[in-house]
Amino acid sequence: MGRRGLLKAALLLCFLAACSGRVGLSQRIHCVPYYSTVVSQRNFVVTLCFRQIELTIKQNPSTTIYNSTLAKILVEYASAIYTADLTQLFTWTCARCGDLIEGFEMIEIIVDVENCLQAYFGFASDINAVVVVFRGTQENSIQNWIEDLLWKQLDLDYPGMPEAMVHRGFYSAYHNTTLRDGVVSGIQRTRKAYGDIPIMITGHSMGGAMASFCALDLVVNYGLDGVNLMTFGQPRIGNAAFASYFKTYLPQAIRVTHAHDIVPHLPPYFSFFPQKTYHHFPREVWTHNIGLGTLVYPVEKICDDSGEDPTCCRSVSGSSVRDHIYYLGVSMHAEDWSSCRIVMDYSKLQYQMDLNGNLVLSKQPGLSNARGFSAQ
Ligand SMILES: *[C@@H]1O[C@H](CO)[C@@H](O)[C@H](O)[C@H]1NC(C)=O
Ligand SMILES: *[C@@H]1O[C@H](CO)[C@@H](O)[C@H](O)[C@H]1NC(C)=O
Repeated sequence: MGRRGLLKAALLLCFLAACSGRVGLSQRIHCVPYYSTVVSQRNFVVTLCFRQIELTIKQNPSTTIYNSTLAKILVEYASAIYTADLTQLFTWTCARCGDLIEGFEMIEIIVDVENCLQAYFGFASDINAVVVVFRGTQENSIQNWIEDLLWKQLDLDYPGMPEAMVHRGFYSAYHNTTLRDGVVSGIQRTRKAYGDIPIMITGHSMGGAMASFCALDLVVNYGLDGVNLMTFGQPRIGNAAFASYFKTYLPQAIRVTHAHDIVPHLPPYFSFFPQKTYHHFPREVWTHNIGLGTLVYPVEKICDDSGEDPTCCRSVSGSSVRDHIYYLGVSMHAEDWSSCRIVMDYSKLQYQMDLNGNLVLSKQPGLSNARGFSAQ
């Protein structure tokens, strides 16, 4: 009697929990025939259904830390900013503006001409987010820039965070230029048009360093929620104390590194000098190939939450510039490394220029291209 009651209850629960109206939510429904002779005298078949979504998540906890689909999208945004022609970038017709990021609505490009820096942001309807992208260095040559990284000092106390030190140059590139005001006010305008959607901040190389300072700024100084950060091949930007604050404010931040890319190894980390040295914030995802010859396959290793996982990119020599300019198979090569001159068709675009020659190209958020043009 007791057993029969229990079984009935279990079956009932199963049907209520698994086979009822919430089926649409689940990823996969797994059903098995269950032959019962216990429930009644006649044999009949009951189908038991299990929702597999919970199982999947448990088996693969890393998907909650790192989303490789999202990484493939963001790396294309980070690559597009290296387009030399601002008209193409602004109208989203550049060669790198297609593929996964085709439907992007560009809202603003900010060019800090004085400091040779650039950022853009807009609305990505497919991931329902404001995407903010910072450009890496344009100084002379990438080679020179990398060599300079070796000598960057921890020379600035990060405001409001005792013991936290950062590199003044990286910090100022975001905080002390036209980019910060432009990006912050732009995010606020975009959220007014689209609601409190998530903010995805990204950048490659030096652009990753600026993206990191921006993400932290939005959380700490503007109290924004829904701030996400994913960078590609960024250098270290601060010390261990800074990294630990960073982790507290942006626990989901991801730094993608690639094979032997030299830049994530710089400025150097001295393990024998842990308090005074540069120290990455977590979490690194090290992408590299395993295998030999034609039998290679790509691996994305989710690293530990120390920021300096010795089994990730630190396990190999950081000796490659080539690995720095390819991320997830996407070229991060700047179309024009060597100059800060602006390439655009001034007659076609509306822009604002300040006294220093800094430039802002912008559109009203929330106007799709079609509506924007027909309104004119
Ligand atoms: C990963 O990101 C993509 C694109 O934003 C999204 O569609 C997907 O649901 C995400 N996957 C997980 C497991 O969060
Ligand atoms: C920001 O720029 C001003 C003027 O160029 C300079 O005096 C100041 O030291 C800079 N701040 C930082 C943190 O570098």
